Order: sequence, then structure tokens, then C-alpha cells
Amino acid sequence: MPMKHSTYSAIIVGSGIAGLYAAIKLAQTEKVPDGILLLTKSSLSECNSRYAQGGIVGVLDENKQDSISLHVADTIKAGCGLSDFNVVKFISENSQHAIEDLMACGVNFDRNEQNNLNFTLEGAHSVRRILHVGGDATGYGIEKALVDKILNDSTVSSNITIYEHTLAVELLLDANNNCRGVISFNSATKEYEALYAPVTLLATGGTGQIYKYTTNPSVTTGDGLALAIKARANIKDMEFIQFHPTALSLENSDSRFLISESVRGEGAKLINSKGEYFMHNHPQKDLAPRDVVAREIYAQLSSGNKVYLDASFIGVDKFKKRFPNIYKTCLENNIDITKDFIPVSPAAHYCMGGIKTEVNGMTSINNLYAVGEAACTSLHGANRLASNSLLECVVTSYEFVNTVSKLDLHSSKIIDETVLNTIKKYADSDCYSSDSAYVNGLKAKLKNIMWNNVGIIRTETSLLTALSEINKISELFPDKDKCNTLDEYELRNMLLVSKCIINAALNRKESIGAHFRADSNDKSVSKQQACYIYSAEDKTDESKIIA
Ligand code: FAD
Ligand code: SIN
Repeated sequence: MPMKHSTYSAIIVGSGIAGLYAAIKLAQTEKVPDGILLLTKSSLSECNSRYAQGGIVGVLDENKQDSISLHVADTIKAGCGLSDFNVVKFISENSQHAIEDLMACGVNFDRNEQNNLNFTLEGAHSVRRILHVGGDATGYGIEKALVDKILNDSTVSSNITIYEHTLAVELLLDANNNCRGVISFNSATKEYEALYAPVTLLATGGTGQIYKYTTNPSVTTGDGLALAIKARANIKDMEFIQFHPTALSLENSDSRFLISESVRGEGAKLINSKGEYFMHNHPQKDLAPRDVVAREIYAQLSSGNKVYLDASFIGVDKFKKRFPNIYKTCLENNIDITKDFIPVSPAAHYCMGGIKTEVNGMTSINNLYAVGEAACTSLHGANRLASNSLLECVVTSYEFVNTVSKLDLHSSKIIDETVLNTIKKYADSDCYSSDSAYVNGLKAKLKNIMWNNVGIIRTETSLLTALSEINKISELFPDKDKCNTLDEYELRNMLLVSKCIINAALNRKESIGAHFRADSNDKSVSKQQACYIYSAEDKTDESKIIA
């Protein structure tokens, strides 16, 4: 077969904080005789993680006002009761270790003059417990330390092979539902490779780019999720998409730079174009849970008002020091926070749902694991508590390593008839190919449909409209397994993930957390652990399940 074949002890897909940290910890076990392959669709440091601003939750002994029980209560309350108590408790209990280990990896969290850690506040947290780096550059700070370690610490780097600009396009499943590896596609050389390992980890991040307005970078197109859906892994909670209330909203621009919730944590207030501070009536005021604030802003915008952040309550010197990147980005866009309000509107930010996993990343498919935003451990429930995501990435990646380092990680190339048939598709020269402007046009259409119909407020009619419009796009872009460009694969994956979200949203008739059904008669908040799961046992045609 003309395709290259390679074997490793473990394949890690994705180089955000979840994938990088898993790679480092697994390399450090020295139980990877055939090495780790870290493959990533763009450059090593491009991902959602890099842009994280507010921080990472640290429930630390030294923070006397905080406790595990307080953090667990805040997380479950923000998640409207749909979080799994045991998962929340486990992740909270492991927070101290996660933070200490990040520091050991070279992460320098911000400290005050007395050299004590600085804790900040975000929406729905009852105490200050969020650690940050470089003021508002937490993701960049953590990601940089982990990348440095992977590239420059020889005990780690000697065990890791890195493939950049390489997309995992399909999981290699055998006839017994065992994952044997992945097929990868190098978007620069257009070469395919069959990659085999006893363990495959999807750390592929979220789905933000399926929406017109998002805080997520362009790589975040739900690719790993789409792979798992195609492989019929169990998928959970996809109706819960978090819309961040305060993204910078500029005339004539679709891009949405985040204005961190910690800006409100440090005192900024939301104000409308009539000069009204409209969050004052809520018990938690501007720091109400994200879904609540996003809907309040949406209501203001829908009634014709504009919405701004008034940062004057923070003080200019403090703002410049505490939020240097936000200050700079605003200034570059002619917003001088010393005299101007910051125009904001909500934008798609985080996917609470994902590949259903245990806290160690175990999925419903043997040998396949998932961690980070691609996974759904049920930590977040219906609405993620701010800064819990980075913590979840670190704790679950650590648990993944704990689990798989006990396995025999000698590589093996197991090819049965089913695996062989998958490989043959990609070795075959026949493939879908279309003009890139055409594909990007379809992407833009999809993003509009999702924003207009599957956004902050949903109804059955809007969801069915979205489904029918997206099915029309699917007809214009036949779902051949093999594509020819990164854009085509992304569109294929975005279509699949969007349909999955819509079906989950149709399935949940009541409003809860980030899923708001304007047509719901049921005003009570359901505590039911209802979820929309594609069963691995379900052998019906995929198009029937998701179309
Ligand atoms: P990512 O960091 O998104 O990494 C995914 C990786 O997978 C990327 O390298 C991508 O290129 C790669 N990839 C995807 N699919 C494939 C494929 N098929 N083949 C190969 N590679 C693939 N959370 C917090 O807790 N605190 C914060 O302060 C915070 N601020 C945020 C600010 C912004 C602007 C954004 C966008 C998010 C923020 N979040 C925050 C959320 C948090 O950053 C993410 O949930 C988290 O970083 C996800 O990490 P990850 O490793 O799972 O995925
Ligand atoms: C922010 O800084 O507002 C983002 C925090 C998060 O998404 O957890």
C-alpha cells in the first residue's frame, strides 16, 4: 500500500493544555517503549488554551476563605444541578496537586508584593480562588511553559515525536470496537499516514467556530468530536453551548476578542446605551452565572440598546497592570478605557458537552480516551463555572496517564478486515475536491445558521429550521470520507457536530443553564440527568441518527 504506516506506544491528538500536559506526564513515566506521537492540526501552540485569560481555579490550603465544599457547591449551582457530584468533588480535591504540578512544570502564577499567590474572582464563584498568569494571559503562560518543557526538557522530548499541521481524520476501529490508532492527513504535503498505538487520546478541544460570533480561534472546529461521533462513541450534553457575555463587539467586524469575566470580577459593571446598570437587580449582580448574564445582554441588544463595560470602577493604573492585553487590544481599536466604555456582546465560547468519559478520559470505545474540552466528564453540567476548564484539562490528563501507564504500551500494528477497509479508503486516489472559496462560503453559511437558530435563545421551530438548512449544505458538500484539504475536513466535521448539537437541543424541551428554549412551558429547572447519547450499540445508519 503506498501509504506510510507507523507505530507508537500512544497517540495524542491535540496540543492544547490537555494534550501537552498528558504528553509530558506520560513521557515522564518512562513507560512508553515506542514513544508518544503528538499530532496537531496547526502549529504546536495554536489552540483555545493559548487564549485563556481569566485563569485557573485553585482550591488551595493557603486560601483560608475557600474550601473543596464551597467550590463543589459553586460548580454544581452554576451547572444547574446537572454536574456529577463525584466528578466535581474529585476534580476539586485534585486542584491543589494540579496547581503545584503546573508550577513544577515552570508556570509562574501572578503573586503580590508579599510573594503570595493572587486570587481573582469571576461569575458565580463565592470567593476569590482563580489564579492567573501575566494578568490576563493565563493560557499563554501555561501553554508556553508546557511547550518549552516538551521541546527543551530532554527526558520529555526524547520520548515525544511531534507532527504539526497534521489532522487526525478518522479513528482506526477494528471489528470488536477497539481503537487501533488513527489516519492522519498532513495539510501541507497532503500525505496520509496510518498510525497505530495501544492507546489513542483525543485532546482536540471544542466547537466554537461553528458559530458566526465566537471567542475561539479558527482551529476550533470540533474535529475530534466529529471523529468520535463517526466512530459511534457515546456523546453527551451537546445542547449546552456556553456563550460568553462579554466579547469585544466592534462595528463592521465579526471577530470577538474576549473581555475576561475577571474584569467584572475586579469591579467593572455592565451598562446599556441609556446609562442603566442593568445587572443590579440580580442577587449576584454583574457576577451572576454566565448563562444568566449572556441572556440579560441578549435582551438588551434585542430591545435596541447597546451594551458596554464600564471599567472606571477598577481604576486606570490597576486596569493597565492587571489586564495589559485587554488594555492594549482596546487601545488598538480606538477604545481608551481611561475615558471610553468597552462595547460588548455575547459570543460562543465553550462546549459543555462532548465525548462521554470517566475522569481518566476513558470513552465507550476500547483504547480510546478523551480529555479537555472535547470530553464530557459531567463536571460542568448545564453551564460551566468560569476557570474550571483549565483545571479539568490538567486533572483529567493526569488521571489518563495514571491509568494508561499501568498498561502494556508496547506498540503493535493490529490490522483486521475492518481496519484494512478504513485504510484502503485513504490509500485510494479518489477523493472529494472543491474550490476553497466554495468551501469557505459553505462554512460561513453554516456559522450564520447556527448563530441565528441554535444560539442563546432556541425554539423547536428555530432548531428544525437550522437542521433543514444544514441538510441543504450537506447536499452541496457530499460527505465522502476522504477530502482533499484541511478546509474540507473542517466543513465535514462542523456539519456533523452542528447536527449533533441541534438534535440534542431538540431533545431537551425544557430550559436549563445555557440551553434556553423560549417555547418551553416547563419553567422548573429539571435536575434530571437527561442526556442525548449516541449509543455505541446502535448500528443504525449514522445519517438517520443525526439528520
Ligand atoms: P485546545 O486548547 O482547544 O486544544 C485543542 C488542540 O487540538 C489544538 O492544538 C488543535 O489544533 C488540535 N486539534 C483539534 N482537532 C484535531 C485533529 N483532528 N487532529 C489534530 N489536531 C487537532 N478556560 C478556563 O478555565 N479559564 C480561562 O480563563 C479561559 N479563558 C478562555 C478564553 C478564551 C478566549 C477561550 C477561547 C477559552 C477560554 N477558556 C478558559 C476555555 C479553555 O481555554 C479551553 O476550554 C481549554 O483551553 C481547552 O483545552 P484543550 O486542550 O481541551 O483544547
Ligand atoms: C474569562 O476570562 O472570562 C474566561 C474564563 C473562562 O472561560 O473560564
